[in-house]
Amino acid sequence: MSTVVLIGAQWGDEGKGKVTDFLAQRADLVARYQGGNNAGHTVVVEDREFKLHLIPSGILYPDKICIIGSGVVIDPEVLLRELESLEKQGISTANLKISERAHIIFPYHQKLDFVEEERKGKNKIGTTCRGIGPAYMDKSARVGIRMIDLVDPDEFKSLLERNLEGKNHLLTRVYNNEALDFNRVWETYVRYAASLKGYLADTSLIINEAIKQGQSILFEGAQGTMLDLDHGTYPYVTSSHPVAGAACIGAGIGPTCIDWVIGVAKAYTTRVGGGPFPTELKDDTGAYIRKHGGEFGTTTGRPRRCGWFDGVVGRYSGRINGLHCFAVTKLDVLSGLEKVKICTGYGYRGDIIKDFPANHKVLRECIPVYEELPGWQEDISGCREFSELPYNARRYLERISEVTEVPIGLVGVGSRRSQTIISDDFSEVMDR
Ligand code: IMP
Repeated sequence: MSTVVLIGAQWGDEGKGKVTDFLAQRADLVARYQGGNNAGHTVVVEDREFKLHLIPSGILYPDKICIIGSGVVIDPEVLLRELESLEKQGISTANLKISERAHIIFPYHQKLDFVEEERKGKNKIGTTCRGIGPAYMDKSARVGIRMIDLVDPDEFKSLLERNLEGKNHLLTRVYNNEALDFNRVWETYVRYAASLKGYLADTSLIINEAIKQGQSILFEGAQGTMLDLDHGTYPYVTSSHPVAGAACIGAGIGPTCIDWVIGVAKAYTTRVGGGPFPTELKDDTGAYIRKHGGEFGTTTGRPRRCGWFDGVVGRYSGRINGLHCFAVTKLDVLSGLEKVKICTGYGYRGDIIKDFPANHKVLRECIPVYEELPGWQEDISGCREFSELPYNARRYLERISEVTEVPIGLVGVGSRRSQTIISDDFSEVMDR
């Protein structure tokens, strides 16, 4: 395996954790490059379940270097809890390296996330209220506090004083909320700094050195393409860039360093939070998928909105990310349905739209055009080859590939590492 970027091709929660874990077996280094603890991966290893929010799932292998890149926003409390929980389960965290340039989430970010959502009322985004948006806002406004600033007491003190003054003004005067106490925040974060100092590094340097030495690198995206700040369903998006191109910025590598881009897509579609979702099913089939797919958020526990596979989104994602292939997850969830549907375009005022529109008014009027295919009743969780899948399941995958113009490299038929089918092309990626 050379350098691979793995991203979510829909609205997040595509089952990236399992695919990352699968690819991490072949990688020497695994890096995250955007998002924060709004993400959540569940990885199942030999009957043990690990829930990860910030640390790359490569940490489950003792010999991999794991990196949290500069594009990630870090809540130190969450990170320390995650480190502690891994250590308790016998997983060493010695190989974790955190970018000195990564920005930090503070309690005022979480508060502002919450009050800002409240203020928006029915137009709220449905954020995870983890302070992600406000932390990225500070970064863009050039007032954010980075890991390297946190471990320098003088620098940290003056930055926190300046920030807290402004944020308390906002919280009390604009939002009629309580101010945060400087000493409390200061003391807590100085403690965090002491615990995290040893993990800090110039992570771009480490990654580039590894690339020079011909090591295998996996860049692990969080969230999904349709939640991207530029390319998603703005404003119903996250505040980072889950697309493949962002790996360069958030990890500190050049575009010429990337060999492969893989998009993870569920065999159907889900979304949490507000915003457009053309193929959403608000009926019994949606409820069936939610129940059988266990579609409840890893981070917030919220029930996910469920719908049919959206080929327009798939094709768009193929284009925006330059996908070499899809990893289709959770195909087994659709087993037992009499019919399965793929959205091949959107009907709009007598026309068929094939490219995902930016205009919400247009999107609201779009009616998905479905291709209906016969379902399959067999239990496919034991299939390990494409040829072992029922004909109708194979046909379904073929149509997804034809509609999206993206080949299918890998198919997940269950939550375990072993419950994976790999195409010949994909084997080639991993063997390089
Ligand atoms: P934020 O990232 O917490 O600001 O939330 C913005 C939007 O992105 C909301 O609709 C969230 O539900 C969604 N979101 C954020 N992280 C994830 C994720 O990991 N999976 C799915 N949706 C997410």
